Amino acid sequence: MAEEKKSQQGEWSSRFAFILAATGSAVGLGNIWKFPYITGENGGGAFVLVYLLCVVLIGVPLMMAETMLGRRSKENPIHTMEILTKEAGADHNWQYLGWLGVTAGFLILSYYSVIAGWATAYVVKAFFGSFFGATPQEIKAIFDGFVASPIQLIFWHSLFMLATMLIVARGIEKGFERSIRFLLPWLFALMILLVGYAMSTDGYFQGLNFLFKPDFSKLTANSVLVAMGQAFFSLSLGMGSIMVYGAYLPKDVSIAKSSMFIAGADTIVALLAGIIIFPIVFSHGLHPNSGPGLVFETLPIAFGNMFGGWLVGVLFFIALVFAALSSSIALIEPAVAWLIENQGYSRPKACLYSGLLAWFLGLGTVFSFNAWANFKLFGQTIFELLDYLTANLMLPIGGFCIAIFAGWIMKQDHSRHELELPDDKYYQVWKFLVSYVAPAAVFFVFLNVVGVL
Ligand code: PHE
Repeated sequence: MAEEKKSQQGEWSSRFAFILAATGSAVGLGNIWKFPYITGENGGGAFVLVYLLCVVLIGVPLMMAETMLGRRSKENPIHTMEILTKEAGADHNWQYLGWLGVTAGFLILSYYSVIAGWATAYVVKAFFGSFFGATPQEIKAIFDGFVASPIQLIFWHSLFMLATMLIVARGIEKGFERSIRFLLPWLFALMILLVGYAMSTDGYFQGLNFLFKPDFSKLTANSVLVAMGQAFFSLSLGMGSIMVYGAYLPKDVSIAKSSMFIAGADTIVALLAGIIIFPIVFSHGLHPNSGPGLVFETLPIAFGNMFGGWLVGVLFFIALVFAALSSSIALIEPAVAWLIENQGYSRPKACLYSGLLAWFLGLGTVFSFNAWANFKLFGQTIFELLDYLTANLMLPIGGFCIAIFAGWIMKQDHSRHELELPDDKYYQVWKFLVSYVAPAAVFFVFLNVVGVL
């Protein structure tokens, strides 16, 4: 493979830009909306511990593998798998891995945009002071009333999807980098302020206990799967997002260091969200297992009560929307890159088609919270089903295959050369994790869930 090949889509302007974009992809609703509510539903500490183990043992090695595969081929994930399969002389069926990822990205984007729409609507609610002096019951009523209205949800979902399409249509350097650069530090600073508020509540230690004190009796096979799925989801792994960002990565960047940084930042943001939300839950007699509405029912209590809460609330939801945008961009980019590189579409046209399709699929999620709330397949609403299918099945399966590919199929010389670790010891550790630990973990968790173990 020619060393000097560059991606058709351009390249990151610097190492910093890649880290920023990949962190932007990782940090999003997964950390602030999903992590707290699934932690609440799955009993707290033990779940968090399994999650952290998955991040370290599966997440980081896999992130390195995905970045490496992308950077080696400098193409969209579907093409990447085709090229690398040929290079390794492997079975051509490996290329379907790219397809699995693009499909998972679409399905995730469809519901991601709906939830991001909620966050967008909450910017406006915060701005008009809806939470001021409201009781927790009133704040819950605001949320319930909001999600009961398909029209409102469709409006905000459409707005968010349009914003995603517009940013992606402008292309990687101009569109991506600029929008991500400001928001991450901003989000982080606001979260630190909110931790300050959480510390002032009576439920602070109870919240911390819930989050960090493991009670293994609460852990079921399914919650282990959910924790693992969340590690994939939150780190944007198993579907080609990080692969496509890796394709835009210049040669001189250390893949290991940037992967560790990204995983670390992502985990800190998720834990901060938990540290903020659970104390609010316990100090107001709310329930940790109240589902996807949890963030929207708890944080506004803080904004309604804390000093400067109006400003913090408005800024926080704006930052959350931007964090979600930098993730939705990553969700749509694999498909867009493929439409451009394989089908010869212009970038705007590729964005238009993929965005419209994901928007349409998103209607299923919109109605899951109102008109079709009682329509269940396998006991789940369309939203729950999509979430389960993508985060708990497709991403881990994709990740499993990527690990096998990087660990077993790809030539050692190639992975060693791409990763360029300072010492061969580190390479051996990575190789072990990606060849044995990560695939075995995914495999055993699956066996456990289907009841074979
Ligand atoms: N990691 C993102 C989040 O936590 C979601 C995402 C998943 C983005 C997969 C890209 C790919 O919000």
